[in-house]
Amino acid sequence: MSKVVRKAVVPAAGLGTRFLPATKATPKEMLPVVDKPAIQYVVEEAVAAGLEDVLFITGRSKRPLEDHFDRNFELEEALERKGDSERLGLVTEPTELARIHYVRQGDPLGLGHAVLVAENHVGNEPFAVLLGDDLIDPRDPILPKMMQVREQHGGSVICLMEVPLESISLYGCAAVEPTSENDVVQVTDLVEKPEVSQAPSSLAVIGRYLLDPAVFEVLRNTAPGRGGEIQLTDALRVLASMPESEGGGVRGVVFSGRRYDTGDRLSYLQANIMLASEREDLGPDLRVWLQKFVATLT
Ligand code: UTP
Repeated sequence: MSKVVRKAVVPAAGLGTRFLPATKATPKEMLPVVDKPAIQYVVEEAVAAGLEDVLFITGRSKRPLEDHFDRNFELEEALERKGDSERLGLVTEPTELARIHYVRQGDPLGLGHAVLVAENHVGNEPFAVLLGDDLIDPRDPILPKMMQVREQHGGSVICLMEVPLESISLYGCAAVEPTSENDVVQVTDLVEKPEVSQAPSSLAVIGRYLLDPAVFEVLRNTAPGRGGEIQLTDALRVLASMPESEGGGVRGVVFSGRRYDTGDRLSYLQANIMLASEREDLGPDLRVWLQKFVATLT
């Protein structure tokens, strides 16, 4: 079995109910963050980490996703005629990013089920899972560190982030033990969206995973959990409880860089404002306007 992670899986088959009606006919992952679909940031991150084989798990509304990563000759010709090479570059860029594959999930039975659907493509290799809900700033990449931990220790590696304890019930939460490395922990247990009083730590699970293929067998035997969905967290709990077994063991890398949450409406709006205000083209005007606007708020 290859120890090196070569493939990325990007689940995009969720119902996206928190964003209705925008997500009625468009996957949540296609919603723009400033001027680029969230999923393109995620593919760029995977490619920057050397993962050029990208599998999208799609659902009923996969068309916009496929079209975004495909050629659009009509648009390309129109921009060529106008001599607009800058925008032409923006249109062709996503088509050249990676080797992209698609598989349908069928029923959206949960993130764990979406990962299981990737088994045929992934085979018996470790692989990455990246969720469009979390945008990791390209200035603070985390996948390379996670890959290093996987290469050293095997097993699976998840990404954790310290959050205020009062917001831990929005996330999966990890019980951990320290290791000899400051930003690496041994995960001993996981709880999906715990009450504050039940939370074993304030370390939240962020949407980046390096999974050992042993996860597939565990997922096949994972019953629907919270919300009637097959939860990836439940399968990771099982792997965390068998650190000595082949393919078992879960380590966490504690991320302290810049991350933008696009998973719900409020944090999505905040992410757009933060990222746009840092952009060279939009930032200066936006910041001036924002300051004036904020002054009008009581
Ligand atoms: P979420 O838990 O955010 O669910 O999924 P969701 O359905 O997308 O959104 P809400 O909560 O209804 O608004 C986390 C990730 O897992 C994918 C989603 O597309 C998202 O990237 N997912 C979830 C699937 O691919 N399939 C599923 O069955 C569930």
